Amino acid sequence: VNTGRHALSQRFLRVRALTTSLCEGLRPEDYRSQPEPEVSPPWWSLGHTSWFFARNLLQPAGRYRGEWQRFEYPLNSYYEGLGPRLPRHRRGAVTRPGTEEMLAYRGEVDDGVLDFLLKASEPEFQRLQPVLEIGIQHEQQHQELFLTEILAIRGADPEQLRAPYREAGRDPAARTAQPLRWTPCKGGLVAIGHRGAGFAWDNEQPEHRVFLADFEFGNRLVTCGDWLAFLADGGYRQPLLWLSNGWNQVQEQRIAAPRYWQQRSGSWSEWTLLGERPIDPAAPVCHVSFYEATAFAQWCSAQGGELRGARLPTEAEWEHAARSHGFDAARGNLLDDPPAWERLVPQAAEGRGDGIVQLAGDVWEWTTSHYEAFPGYRPFDGALTEYNGKFMDNQRVLRGGSLATPRDHVRASYRNFWPAWTRFQFSGVRLCRDLT
Ligand SMILES: [Fe+2]
Repeated sequence: VNTGRHALSQRFLRVRALTTSLCEGLRPEDYRSQPEPEVSPPWWSLGHTSWFFARNLLQPAGRYRGEWQRFEYPLNSYYEGLGPRLPRHRRGAVTRPGTEEMLAYRGEVDDGVLDFLLKASEPEFQRLQPVLEIGIQHEQQHQELFLTEILAIRGADPEQLRAPYREAGRDPAARTAQPLRWTPCKGGLVAIGHRGAGFAWDNEQPEHRVFLADFEFGNRLVTCGDWLAFLADGGYRQPLLWLSNGWNQVQEQRIAAPRYWQQRSGSWSEWTLLGERPIDPAAPVCHVSFYEATAFAQWCSAQGGELRGARLPTEAEWEHAARSHGFDAARGNLLDDPPAWERLVPQAAEGRGDGIVQLAGDVWEWTTSHYEAFPGYRPFDGALTEYNGKFMDNQRVLRGGSLATPRDHVRASYRNFWPAWTRFQFSGVRLCRDLT
């Protein structure tokens, strides 16, 4: 076996093992719960990530086992080209396949992939290696989803009984964030999108040029302390700050704070992967929708002074700022293997330097950009043509990665996307403004 295949098999096994290690400490009930349609239960994540390799790699390689056929219906997520599927909202309503069955299936699929890596002819390996790479990257995406899902699952339990996902560290000491400062960014004809070696999704390509006016970029993420001021000023009760659909959501769902915040005898706390913790005013605000982010920016702008003109960045502004001011995945608060449990909450900007900080990790940053194809976009071939392109409709782009994104999975050009109303992801806010 050549060294390329050996390294790939090591990485495959590491990524697969991280998924199962994230499940340590779960109770049988945790694996089956789907408190809302967007939150898939863990049994499904374990199975679906395996199904992805079975169907897209092992089947074309002639290594698909007939008895896996029974998992096709429950484990297909959204691939119209790969047959009928269990509706997403029913994943928490079925007792079969069982969780143990999914763990056994994982083992069988792992064996199949390793056997492929060991024995496939060189032409076959060359043909299918891109699919294996996509399968690994796909699994990493589901590791982040798993953490957002277990947060929602445990958060849906009765408050008196809620159990943290992990116990780690003490509650943060109350701190105050440094004031928001603006960093000038030179516009012009700039390049965005992925180019060169290394993996990138089809939707990050090709690299292309866009024109940007000069702008100013917020040096840090918007904090919980900033958000407390927005709350204190009645931000959630001022319709003129909100986009129409956002105001409707706030009214219909009676939203009055970020998704996991609650107020108890006058002070705010937040449900996190580490349990319920007092709000840390210096830490980035998390679990806000695009609508909340835009309303907050509007409110900031209305404050005048240094904040006049505050708005969210476009994705091109975000990527240009990240490229020209140092996107540093090595230093961001991202998911490690093994994970540093105490960092499964957003971290304050303190001590991270004078430039633009927190670009990588902590929280995904909403941009105003609609999720669309870049000029010259070419979707993946075959069944995976459905991976990204068909979702380029009614969603907004987020950039930068979060505390739940595997560290070796994110780039400056990485495009995440969610509907504007989404609040269960690790999503936060970066401000920007025109340079005047
Ligand atoms: Fe998936």
